[in-house]
Amino acid sequence: MTVHFIGAGPGAPDLITVRGLALIRRCPVVLYAGSLVPAAVVAEAPAGARVVDTAALTLAEVIAAMQEADAAGQDVARVHSGDPSLYGAIAEQIRQLERLGIPWTITPGVPAYAAAAAELGLELTLPGIAQTVVLTRTAVRASPMPPGEDLAAYARSGATLAIHLSINNLAQVLRSLLPVYGVDGPIAVVHRASWPDQRILRGTLGTIRQQVKAAGITRTALILTGPALAALDFADSRLYAADHSHVLRPARRSART
Ligand SMILES: C[S@@+](CC[C@H](N)C(=O)[O-])C[C@H]1O[C@@H](n2cnc3c(N)ncnc32)[C@H](O)[C@@H]1O
Repeated sequence: MTVHFIGAGPGAPDLITVRGLALIRRCPVVLYAGSLVPAAVVAEAPAGARVVDTAALTLAEVIAAMQEADAAGQDVARVHSGDPSLYGAIAEQIRQLERLGIPWTITPGVPAYAAAAAELGLELTLPGIAQTVVLTRTAVRASPMPPGEDLAAYARSGATLAIHLSINNLAQVLRSLLPVYGVDGPIAVVHRASWPDQRILRGTLGTIRQQVKAAGITRTALILTGPALAALDFADSRLYAADHSHVLRPARRSART
Protein backbone atom coordinates (compact mmCIF):
# COMPACT_ATOMS: atom_id res chain seq x y z
CA MET A 1 0.00 0.00 0.00
CA THR A 2 1.26 3.47 -0.90
CA VAL A 3 -0.01 7.02 -0.52
CA HIS A 4 0.54 8.90 -3.78
CA PHE A 5 0.67 12.68 -3.47
CA ILE A 6 -0.44 14.00 -6.86
CA GLY A 7 -0.44 17.51 -8.30
CA ALA A 8 -3.78 18.10 -10.04
CA GLY A 9 -2.54 21.16 -11.91
CA PRO A 10 -4.16 24.60 -11.82
CA GLY A 11 -7.73 23.63 -12.69
CA ALA A 12 -8.19 22.57 -16.30
CA PRO A 13 -8.67 18.79 -16.08
CA ASP A 14 -6.29 18.23 -19.03
CA LEU A 15 -3.45 19.96 -17.20
CA ILE A 16 -2.85 17.05 -14.82
CA THR A 17 0.13 14.86 -15.77
CA VAL A 18 -0.37 11.51 -17.50
CA ARG A 19 1.21 9.83 -14.48
CA GLY A 20 -1.03 11.63 -11.99
CA LEU A 21 -4.19 10.71 -13.89
CA ALA A 22 -3.11 7.07 -14.22
CA LEU A 23 -2.65 6.91 -10.44
CA ILE A 24 -6.08 8.42 -9.76
CA ARG A 25 -7.63 5.94 -12.20
CA ARG A 26 -6.28 2.98 -10.25
CA CYS A 27 -6.42 4.04 -6.58
CA PRO A 28 -9.38 2.69 -4.57
CA VAL A 29 -9.13 5.67 -2.19
CA VAL A 30 -8.96 9.27 -3.45
CA LEU A 31 -8.50 12.11 -0.97
CA TYR A 32 -8.64 15.49 -2.68
CA ALA A 33 -8.41 19.14 -1.66
CA GLY A 34 -11.83 20.06 -2.99
CA SER A 35 -11.49 23.83 -2.79
CA LEU A 36 -9.08 23.91 -5.75
CA VAL A 37 -9.01 20.46 -7.32
CA PRO A 38 -11.49 20.16 -10.21
CA ALA A 39 -14.25 17.59 -9.81
CA ALA A 40 -13.51 16.29 -13.32
CA VAL A 41 -10.12 15.02 -12.14
CA VAL A 42 -11.46 12.98 -9.25
CA ALA A 43 -14.36 11.78 -11.41
CA GLU A 44 -11.68 9.61 -13.04
CA ALA A 45 -11.43 7.51 -9.85
CA PRO A 46 -12.33 3.85 -10.44
CA ALA A 47 -15.91 2.71 -9.94
CA GLY A 48 -16.54 2.00 -6.27
CA ALA A 49 -13.58 4.08 -5.09
CA ARG A 50 -13.88 5.97 -1.83
CA VAL A 51 -13.58 9.63 -2.89
CA VAL A 52 -13.30 12.16 -0.05
CA ASP A 53 -13.10 15.95 -0.21
CA THR A 54 -10.67 16.80 2.59
CA ALA A 55 -11.41 20.56 2.60
CA ALA A 56 -13.28 20.28 5.90
CA LEU A 57 -11.00 17.67 7.55
CA THR A 58 -8.18 18.15 10.04
CA LEU A 59 -4.69 16.76 9.49
CA ALA A 60 -5.45 14.01 12.02
CA GLU A 61 -8.60 13.05 10.09
CA VAL A 62 -6.71 12.92 6.78
CA ILE A 63 -4.03 10.71 8.32
CA ALA A 64 -6.73 8.50 9.88
CA ALA A 65 -8.24 7.99 6.40
CA MET A 66 -4.79 6.99 5.11
CA GLN A 67 -4.31 4.57 8.01
CA GLU A 68 -7.70 3.02 7.29
CA ALA A 69 -6.68 2.51 3.66
CA ASP A 70 -3.37 1.07 4.81
CA ALA A 71 -5.16 -1.44 7.04
CA ALA A 72 -7.27 -2.49 4.04
CA GLY A 73 -4.21 -2.69 1.77
CA GLN A 74 -5.62 0.04 -0.51
CA ASP A 75 -3.47 2.59 -2.35
CA VAL A 76 -4.40 6.23 -1.81
CA ALA A 77 -4.36 9.07 -4.35
CA ARG A 78 -3.86 12.24 -2.30
CA VAL A 79 -4.66 15.00 -4.77
CA HIS A 80 -3.51 18.59 -4.20
CA SER A 81 -3.90 21.63 -6.44
CA GLY A 82 -1.14 22.80 -8.76
CA ASP A 83 2.16 21.28 -7.76
CA PRO A 84 2.14 19.73 -4.29
CA SER A 85 5.56 21.15 -3.42
CA LEU A 86 4.11 24.68 -3.20
CA TYR A 87 1.87 25.52 -0.24
CA GLY A 88 0.57 21.97 -0.44
CA ALA A 89 0.90 21.07 3.27
CA ILE A 90 2.32 17.71 2.18
CA ALA A 91 5.40 17.85 4.42
CA GLU A 92 3.33 17.46 7.57
CA GLN A 93 1.46 14.50 6.06
CA ILE A 94 4.72 12.87 4.95
CA ARG A 95 6.14 13.32 8.46
CA GLN A 96 3.21 11.39 9.89
CA LEU A 97 3.39 8.69 7.21
CA GLU A 98 7.09 8.21 7.96
CA ARG A 99 6.24 7.73 11.66
CA LEU A 100 3.58 5.18 10.72
CA GLY A 101 5.82 3.37 8.24
CA ILE A 102 3.42 4.00 5.34
CA PRO A 103 5.19 4.37 1.97
CA TRP A 104 4.51 7.42 -0.18
CA THR A 105 5.42 8.98 -3.54
CA ILE A 106 5.04 12.44 -5.07
CA THR A 107 3.89 13.14 -8.64
CA PRO A 108 4.41 16.78 -9.61
CA GLY A 109 1.80 19.00 -11.21
CA VAL A 110 1.56 22.20 -13.26
CA PRO A 111 1.76 25.01 -10.71
CA ALA A 112 -0.70 27.91 -10.80
CA TYR A 113 2.05 30.45 -11.45
CA ALA A 114 3.02 28.63 -14.65
CA ALA A 115 -0.61 28.45 -15.77
CA ALA A 116 -1.03 32.16 -15.01
CA ALA A 117 2.10 33.03 -17.02
CA ALA A 118 0.81 30.95 -19.93
CA GLU A 119 -2.56 32.68 -19.88
CA LEU A 120 -0.83 36.05 -19.79
CA GLY A 121 1.43 35.00 -22.67
CA LEU A 122 4.48 35.83 -20.59
CA GLU A 123 8.01 34.57 -20.19
CA LEU A 124 8.89 35.26 -16.57
CA THR A 125 12.65 35.19 -17.20
CA LEU A 126 13.89 37.64 -19.84
CA PRO A 127 17.59 37.99 -20.73
CA GLY A 128 19.09 41.04 -19.07
CA ILE A 129 15.84 41.92 -17.29
CA ALA A 130 14.94 39.13 -14.87
CA GLN A 131 16.54 35.72 -14.49
CA THR A 132 14.92 34.78 -11.21
CA VAL A 133 11.34 34.04 -10.21
CA VAL A 134 10.36 34.37 -6.56
CA LEU A 135 7.41 32.20 -5.53
CA THR A 136 6.12 33.82 -2.39
CA ARG A 137 3.11 34.87 -0.36
CA THR A 138 2.25 37.41 2.33
CA ALA A 139 1.42 36.86 5.98
CA VAL A 140 -2.07 36.15 7.21
CA ARG A 141 -3.21 35.46 10.77
CA ALA A 142 -2.78 31.68 10.45
CA SER A 143 0.50 31.85 8.49
CA PRO A 144 3.04 34.49 9.48
CA MET A 145 6.07 34.97 7.22
CA PRO A 146 9.43 33.78 8.56
CA PRO A 147 11.82 36.61 9.50
CA GLY A 148 13.90 37.77 6.54
CA GLU A 149 11.32 36.88 3.87
CA ASP A 150 10.52 40.38 2.76
CA LEU A 151 8.48 41.27 -0.34
CA ALA A 152 10.16 44.66 -0.80
CA ALA A 153 13.58 43.01 -0.74
CA TYR A 154 12.49 40.49 -3.37
CA ALA A 155 11.16 43.36 -5.49
CA ARG A 156 14.43 45.29 -5.15
CA SER A 157 16.26 42.27 -6.56
CA GLY A 158 14.51 42.79 -9.93
CA ALA A 159 13.21 39.22 -9.95
CA THR A 160 9.73 38.43 -11.23
CA LEU A 161 7.43 37.90 -8.27
CA ALA A 162 4.62 35.31 -8.22
CA ILE A 163 2.65 36.17 -5.11
CA HIS A 164 0.28 33.48 -3.84
CA LEU A 165 -2.51 33.50 -1.27
CA SER A 166 -2.47 37.28 -1.11
CA ILE A 167 -5.32 38.76 -3.12
CA ASN A 168 -6.99 39.78 0.14
CA ASN A 169 -3.72 41.38 1.21
CA LEU A 170 -3.40 43.48 -1.92
CA ALA A 171 -3.18 46.75 0.00
CA GLN A 172 -0.24 45.40 2.00
CA VAL A 173 1.38 43.98 -1.16
CA LEU A 174 1.13 47.37 -2.85
CA ARG A 175 2.54 49.17 0.19
CA SER A 176 5.64 46.97 -0.05
CA LEU A 177 6.02 47.27 -3.82
CA LEU A 178 5.20 50.93 -4.54
CA PRO A 179 8.46 52.37 -3.13
CA VAL A 180 10.39 49.96 -5.39
CA TYR A 181 8.47 49.88 -8.69
CA GLY A 182 6.56 53.15 -8.48
CA VAL A 183 2.96 53.77 -9.39
CA ASP A 184 3.48 52.72 -13.03
CA GLY A 185 5.05 49.37 -12.15
CA PRO A 186 3.44 46.55 -14.14
CA ILE A 187 1.31 43.99 -12.34
CA ALA A 188 -1.19 41.31 -13.32
CA VAL A 189 -3.77 39.32 -11.40
CA VAL A 190 -4.97 35.99 -12.74
CA HIS A 191 -8.05 34.58 -11.08
CA ARG A 192 -8.63 30.81 -11.42
CA ALA A 193 -6.07 30.36 -14.19
CA SER A 194 -7.18 27.69 -16.69
CA TRP A 195 -10.69 27.33 -15.21
CA PRO A 196 -13.64 28.19 -17.49
CA ASP A 197 -14.36 31.29 -15.37
CA GLN A 198 -10.75 32.51 -15.41
CA ARG A 199 -10.27 36.27 -15.28
CA ILE A 200 -7.16 38.25 -16.15
CA LEU A 201 -6.44 41.78 -14.99
CA ARG A 202 -3.43 43.66 -16.33
CA GLY A 203 -2.59 47.00 -14.79
CA THR A 204 -0.14 49.04 -12.80
CA LEU A 205 0.51 49.36 -9.12
CA GLY A 206 -1.60 52.49 -9.29
CA THR A 207 -4.64 50.86 -10.92
CA ILE A 208 -4.77 47.22 -9.85
CA ARG A 209 -6.51 47.66 -6.52
CA GLN A 210 -9.50 49.32 -8.14
CA GLN A 211 -9.51 46.70 -10.94
CA VAL A 212 -9.56 43.82 -8.45
CA LYS A 213 -12.27 45.50 -6.40
CA ALA A 214 -14.41 46.12 -9.48
CA ALA A 215 -13.97 42.49 -10.56
CA GLY A 216 -14.89 41.26 -7.08
CA ILE A 217 -11.91 38.89 -6.90
CA THR A 218 -11.38 37.69 -3.34
CA ARG A 219 -9.67 34.29 -3.63
CA THR A 220 -7.75 31.86 -5.86
CA ALA A 221 -5.74 34.50 -7.63
CA LEU A 222 -2.12 34.85 -8.44
CA ILE A 223 -0.36 38.22 -8.47
CA LEU A 224 2.53 38.52 -10.93
CA THR A 225 4.73 41.56 -10.95
CA GLY A 226 8.25 42.79 -11.74
CA PRO A 227 10.09 44.47 -14.62
CA ALA A 228 9.73 41.39 -16.88
CA LEU A 229 5.99 42.00 -17.16
CA ALA A 230 6.45 45.21 -19.13
CA ALA A 231 9.77 44.68 -20.87
CA LEU A 232 9.66 44.74 -24.66
CA ASP A 233 13.27 45.74 -25.12
CA PHE A 234 15.23 42.68 -24.05
CA ALA A 235 18.10 40.83 -25.68
CA ASP A 236 17.59 37.58 -27.59
CA SER A 237 18.95 34.64 -25.61
CA ARG A 238 22.53 33.68 -26.45
CA LEU A 239 21.53 30.02 -26.77
CA TYR A 240 20.04 30.50 -30.21
CA ALA A 241 22.40 33.23 -31.41
CA ALA A 242 23.99 32.43 -34.78
CA ASP A 243 27.45 33.42 -33.52
CA HIS A 244 27.20 31.24 -30.43
CA SER A 245 28.19 27.58 -30.54
CA HIS A 246 27.71 24.88 -27.94
CA VAL A 247 27.90 21.14 -27.58
CA LEU A 248 24.64 20.51 -29.46
CA ARG A 249 25.40 23.09 -32.16
CA PRO A 250 29.15 23.17 -32.79
CA ALA A 251 30.61 26.14 -34.65
CA ARG A 252 29.93 25.80 -38.39
CA ARG A 253 32.90 26.13 -40.71
CA SER A 254 32.41 28.74 -43.37
CA ALA A 255 32.31 27.16 -46.85
CA ARG A 256 35.56 27.53 -48.86
CA THR A 257 35.35 28.85 -52.36
C1 LIG B 1 -2.71 26.63 -1.23
S1 LIG B 1 -1.99 27.48 -2.57
C2 LIG B 1 -1.71 26.12 -3.66
C3 LIG B 1 -0.67 26.39 -4.72
C4 LIG B 1 -0.50 25.22 -5.64
N1 LIG B 1 0.08 24.10 -4.95
C5 LIG B 1 0.33 25.55 -6.88
O1 LIG B 1 1.28 24.82 -7.19
O2 LIG B 1 0.02 26.52 -7.56
C6 LIG B 1 -3.36 28.30 -3.24
C7 LIG B 1 -2.97 29.59 -3.92
O3 LIG B 1 -2.36 29.28 -5.16
C8 LIG B 1 -2.82 30.18 -6.15
N2 LIG B 1 -3.63 29.42 -7.11
C9 LIG B 1 -3.93 28.10 -7.08
N3 LIG B 1 -4.62 27.76 -8.17
C10 LIG B 1 -4.77 28.87 -8.91
C11 LIG B 1 -5.36 29.16 -10.16
N4 LIG B 1 -5.92 28.22 -10.91
N5 LIG B 1 -5.30 30.43 -10.61
C12 LIG B 1 -4.69 31.40 -9.89
N6 LIG B 1 -4.11 31.19 -8.71
C13 LIG B 1 -4.14 29.95 -8.22
C14 LIG B 1 -3.60 31.26 -5.44
O4 LIG B 1 -2.71 32.27 -5.05
C15 LIG B 1 -4.13 30.51 -4.25
O5 LIG B 1 -4.44 31.39 -3.19
